Amino acid sequence: MSDIEQLVAQATAEFAGIDDAAALEQSKARYLGKSGSVTELLKNLGKLEPEQRKRAGAAINSAKERIEAALNGRREAIRLVALEGQLEAEALDVTLPGRGLPTGGLHPVTRTLERIEALFRSIGFDVADGPEIEDDFHNFTALNTPENHPARSMHDTFYLLDAPGLLLRTHTSPIQVRFMETHKPPIRVIAPGRVYRVDSDATHSPMFHQVEGLWIDEDVSFADLKGVFTDFLRNFFEKPDLRTRFRPSFFPFTEPSAEIDMSCVFCDGNGCRVCSHTGWLEIAGSGMVHPNVLKAVGIDSERYIGFAFGMGPDRLTMLRYGVNDLRLFFDGDLRFLSQFK
Ligand code: PHE
Repeated sequence: MSDIEQLVAQATAEFAGIDDAAALEQSKARYLGKSGSVTELLKNLGKLEPEQRKRAGAAINSAKERIEAALNGRREAIRLVALEGQLEAEALDVTLPGRGLPTGGLHPVTRTLERIEALFRSIGFDVADGPEIEDDFHNFTALNTPENHPARSMHDTFYLLDAPGLLLRTHTSPIQVRFMETHKPPIRVIAPGRVYRVDSDATHSPMFHQVEGLWIDEDVSFADLKGVFTDFLRNFFEKPDLRTRFRPSFFPFTEPSAEIDMSCVFCDGNGCRVCSHTGWLEIAGSGMVHPNVLKAVGIDSERYIGFAFGMGPDRLTMLRYGVNDLRLFFDGDLRFLSQFK
């Protein structure tokens, strides 16, 4: 084999043994670089006779071409291996679902409160707020429930040890008092909020919600109470046939007083497990505001009269969504809560 053919074989073999791009370029320089073997051969051509020069030139050029072909083949092979490695390392499963941003949702009881507010706003009621830590006066005394009144024991609650006279409010009725202290009749207001009592089972939680309602004017009657509340419930449950029943009851701050029952939304009053086969569900306390309450806040009880009610939106939420354990709402378990998004 001529020197030239040997050179081609040597270069081809050398390239084949290299699998690193940088090393391949260094190897290339040894043959095709400025002082590479092939380049040296070409430089020497000038010393030859014209006839010889032609043949040798052709042979060298052919060798150069084959070495370049071997080089390019090897370059391509190395590039492919590198690409394959990169594809494997950066593997991307385009069938995976996107990460996305999970959307939050309103708590089911919050949804109920917003629904109640919207319905009462639509008939001209304001929405008021009050502190959850109340004083004795607003929670009891101003509501015609003086110290040692037996009705206080129905509201056994959480007293603040370090602050005598302060307690976690047992109902939203103190907001009635606060609103009447700062507003003159006519008054039309609802007041949603958290309240606290020493109670805990499937239908009672030590913290629960109430929505208070109050309408004071010169000629508000018990018939208005019946109309407003019945209409509210029919709209809330989207049941135009829903019926209400007012049962005589007692609250120190209303006279007369009544418990409001509504026909069971599950059996339409026919009797089922939810309503203990009575056909009725207890939903609120209510009555005509006692003159002593008006007097306690400086409203002329000879001129003004009105009704108040206090309902349980947690109960309304359970009924609206068919949930049978109140505690589920307050355990903070997202598996339960995210079903209401
Ligand atoms: N505050 C009463 C309760 O919590 C409910 C009520 C409110 C009754 C307003 C009459 C009028 O039991």
